Amino acid sequence: MSDTARKILVTSALPYANGPIHLGHLLEYIQTDIWVRFQKLRGEQCIYVCADDAHGTAIMLKAEENGVTPEQQIAQVKADHERDFADFQIRFDNYYSTHSPENRALSEMVFQRNKDAGYIIEKTITQLYDPQKGMFLADRFVKGTCPKCKSEDQYGDNCEVCGATYTPAELIDPYSSVSGATPVEKETTQLFFDLPRFEPMLREWTRSGALQEQVANKLQEWIEDLQPWDISREAPYFGFEIPGYPGKYFYVWLDAPIGYMASFQNYCEREDLSFDDYWAKDSSAELYHFIGKDIINFHGLFWPAMLEGAGLRKPTAIYSHGFVTVNGAKMSKSRGTFIKARTYLDHLSPEYLRYYFAAKLSSRVDDFDLNLEDFAQRVNADLVGKLVNIASRTGNFVKKFGGTLSEELDNPLLVREVQEAGPRIAQSYEKREFGKAMRDIMALADHANGYIAEKAPWSLAKEEGREQEVLQICTTAINVFRLLVIYLKPVLPALAERAEAFLQIEPLTWNDSEQLLLNHEIAKFKPLLNRIDMAQIESMLSASKESTPAAAPQSDSKPAAKPSGNDGPAKDDTISIDDFLKVKLRVARVARAAHVDGADKLLQLTLDVGELGERNVFAGIKAKYKPEDLEGKLVVLVANLAPRKMKFGVSEGMVLAAGPGGEDIYVLSPDSGAEPGMEVR
Ligand code: 2FM
Ligand code: ZN
Repeated sequence: MSDTARKILVTSALPYANGPIHLGHLLEYIQTDIWVRFQKLRGEQCIYVCADDAHGTAIMLKAEENGVTPEQQIAQVKADHERDFADFQIRFDNYYSTHSPENRALSEMVFQRNKDAGYIIEKTITQLYDPQKGMFLADRFVKGTCPKCKSEDQYGDNCEVCGATYTPAELIDPYSSVSGATPVEKETTQLFFDLPRFEPMLREWTRSGALQEQVANKLQEWIEDLQPWDISREAPYFGFEIPGYPGKYFYVWLDAPIGYMASFQNYCEREDLSFDDYWAKDSSAELYHFIGKDIINFHGLFWPAMLEGAGLRKPTAIYSHGFVTVNGAKMSKSRGTFIKARTYLDHLSPEYLRYYFAAKLSSRVDDFDLNLEDFAQRVNADLVGKLVNIASRTGNFVKKFGGTLSEELDNPLLVREVQEAGPRIAQSYEKREFGKAMRDIMALADHANGYIAEKAPWSLAKEEGREQEVLQICTTAINVFRLLVIYLKPVLPALAERAEAFLQIEPLTWNDSEQLLLNHEIAKFKPLLNRIDMAQIESMLSASKESTPAAAPQSDSKPAAKPSGNDGPAKDDTISIDDFLKVKLRVARVARAAHVDGADKLLQLTLDVGELGERNVFAGIKAKYKPEDLEGKLVVLVANLAPRKMKFGVSEGMVLAAGPGGEDIYVLSPDSGAEPGMEVR
């Protein structure tokens, strides 16, 4: 490592120690791992730490349910997590636990410094208490009937049916989901972190470039209404007891991010590195947290404020990603799409998923759909059909004609083009635009395959005296292959290793792309990757249906408006409020309605949508409505539906109607007074 290497510390969110790793988690770890491997390949000093998030009520109860101590529970889960991560080729420099001596000491230090600075206050509050279990209940552990829509069995903070948010005290017939007892209200004095005092710092920091724009905008809403943050919990609780406050424990979300520091400190002790170089206020090291969008308030508000209060440095940046859906819907137990890491590994190679995630990831916070058919097609087409194909079509001819690459290239320009793409691909990696990097790499693979097809070395090889020419063509192809393997190495480290064995070379680094491989003996070509067979995916889905996790909440800690998705089985077909808000509805007036020649079911509607102008929509309502019934009528239009080319023309939206169809259909119509163009909420 050179003296000028960047010093970079990277973390992924700490998974809870009460459940298995699943595909939703893996998006983040794979994204982070690719970024870290890229930095290391470039020669930067990049350290990647993580840990299990071992504290909290949910973990305590899970251990109880399993008939083990919390310590046994977290040890078992940690071993499982580490095995899953290793098998997905996620290479942490240190994987630790928040239940560690380092984390206890650092949590106490951060708390004490904030307390000394006057940022810790005491308040007496009223909380629900389970008299049977003898414990205070976090909102997620109180259930009852929604005060708004009267649906039963709703959580204490929000209703999954109507989306209402409320306090547990507002629930009708509340009960403790721990014991079933009716909770009572009880006063308790708790410690609070005085977050509102950090408002000026947070306003500035959240706009400093440390956050993606979407995230910064979201956090502005929270900054408008900062509240002191309750950082203590009453016994019984699995966590660290707060010094000077017997029977009170640090809330899991206080010591979880400090777990990043603790894991790093543990690494420093082992590797003899300076902890302060990375965490002191004036540190010049870079610090990045990769997280999911559901925990941006903890990382974008509480965490920088706690660090500031303790006189420590703040993160350089926080990189958030969206949630994973499978085949367009939330991961679902009944469809078999709640896929655990281990179940995936029992059926498919981790390299496929690493590549597919890379191919579809950008630096944005958008949700991520794993469409399993697209997944198989993409992996087969790109990795087997394009990349590996370059080596498989040419490697054997090198072997046949002596086994040594030629001294000259047949097409130096092609190889130069691939070399020159290096800095551009590096920039895409650096900016977490992995999809762009993969597209770039595959376009180069296409060029190489086009070149090989045109030269057809398999035909030339049959001709007398053309060995040298064949060797030079194959040497050109193998050099392109080698360069593409370098560019893909952050994503596909194991494939790169197999390619290195085939090329008989030392482990490749990024800068090796400046050199070529000439006059060098290579090994016999062996297949580097198999195609995915849809049958493997089918059997993974069946296995997932058979082995699904329990539906208990994974944490007692998520904010009420958490866009649920990644951390537990979801109810089938529910969508988050974010998903719903993507649908833009507008009032429209039917300006003209007409029959469509040759169509039995459709009417053509010309809609006046106020400021959006006119829209042409084909609606399947002819069995019920005559054109004249509709003209002048107000309707509701889905205004942001992608235009759809139909046999009779392009349909630019959809009109909302109720009923199964045919004559049994009812167009929804706003009351008179609504104006064309108005937004519908
Ligand atoms: O949401 C979660 O899964 C938490 N266990 C993440 C913690 S990240 C960090 F702050 F420790
Ligand atoms: Zn409700």
